[in-house]
Amino acid sequence: MKMATRHWPASPDTIAAAAVLLRQGRLVAFPTETVYGLGADACSGEAVARIYEAKGRPRFNPLIAHVADLDQALGQGRFDRDALALAQAFWPGPLTLIVPVAATCTVSHLARSGLDSVALRVPDHPVAMSLLREAGVPVAAPSANRSGRISPTSADHVMGDLKGRIDVVLDGGVTAVGLESTILACLGDGIRLLRPGGLKRAAIEAVLGRALNVPTDLDPVVAPGMMASHYAPQAAVRLDAVSVGVGEAVLDFGGRFSGVTTGLRLDLSDRGDLTEAAANLFCHLHRLDDAGATRIAVAPVPVDGLGEAINDRLRRAAAPRP
Ligand code: TXA
Ligand code: MG
Repeated sequence: MKMATRHWPASPDTIAAAAVLLRQGRLVAFPTETVYGLGADACSGEAVARIYEAKGRPRFNPLIAHVADLDQALGQGRFDRDALALAQAFWPGPLTLIVPVAATCTVSHLARSGLDSVALRVPDHPVAMSLLREAGVPVAAPSANRSGRISPTSADHVMGDLKGRIDVVLDGGVTAVGLESTILACLGDGIRLLRPGGLKRAAIEAVLGRALNVPTDLDPVVAPGMMASHYAPQAAVRLDAVSVGVGEAVLDFGGRFSGVTTGLRLDLSDRGDLTEAAANLFCHLHRLDDAGATRIAVAPVPVDGLGEAINDRLRRAAAPRP
């Protein structure tokens, strides 16, 4: 997956060209006021899968969908009164709001890790804002660094980490905040602080007129936004199946069980492509659930490349749950 990475000083022309690349499913790193983000079309599962590939992330976390303005955000998520007040007070800015998906949400299952919530943010940076406006789609973007490395605050950091793995970095200088956005969950059960970040808690509490709930059972710095952040199917999941039992639905890979089952079978990628498999993972689990499957046999998925994250996610889906 080696490619020539272009390092473009941000200008109206390069921003327009980068927006075209985003719409084609390519990877574009861009500055926000917090850190540089590694962007892809949030609506395309395959484009989002390339983010994980480039970062070498061993796990699929849900990603923040960056949008140009509140109007665009309202098409993706459902904002209650508090969420709306926070968005109006702090967007554009270093605040991410996790809200229930709207019926019109186009953010892919993979970008949401299969959840029925979506993380939204309007970044306060002229380059990011023009890019988002020109791209016209929500842009999924984690920090533009290899997994386990430090978040990048300059285009040179991004090149140092991701050169050869992404299409473009738009250079907009050094980021002002340098710390990731503050993440709040607004899911109808009170506002919870999931990750402290660039927006101070006191400012948020001033708008809400009350204190924030901070989860106490985890270290919010080590485990940002990890709680309840993964979709688990209703069905019992059996991994690395070598055969299919009676009444089992099948989550297949590479067509392994195409000849041996007459029941419900969805293939993550019949041509055995891990990028395609990542893009399909959460949609297929949802579809098997929706079809009423009670037991799912999962074909072995190779552990190289994106396969590591796919297997991690499948193990979580198979784990006993409360
Ligand atoms: O400043 C920032 O927030 C940067 C810039 C590029 O915008 N982005 C960033 O993204 O830090 P990332 O992927 O490193 O962090 C996003 C966090 C993850 O910890 C993820 O678990 C959480 O947001 N998250 C996203 N969607 C979620 C959801 N629906 N439920 C719970 N947590 C969610
Ligand atoms: Mg990060």
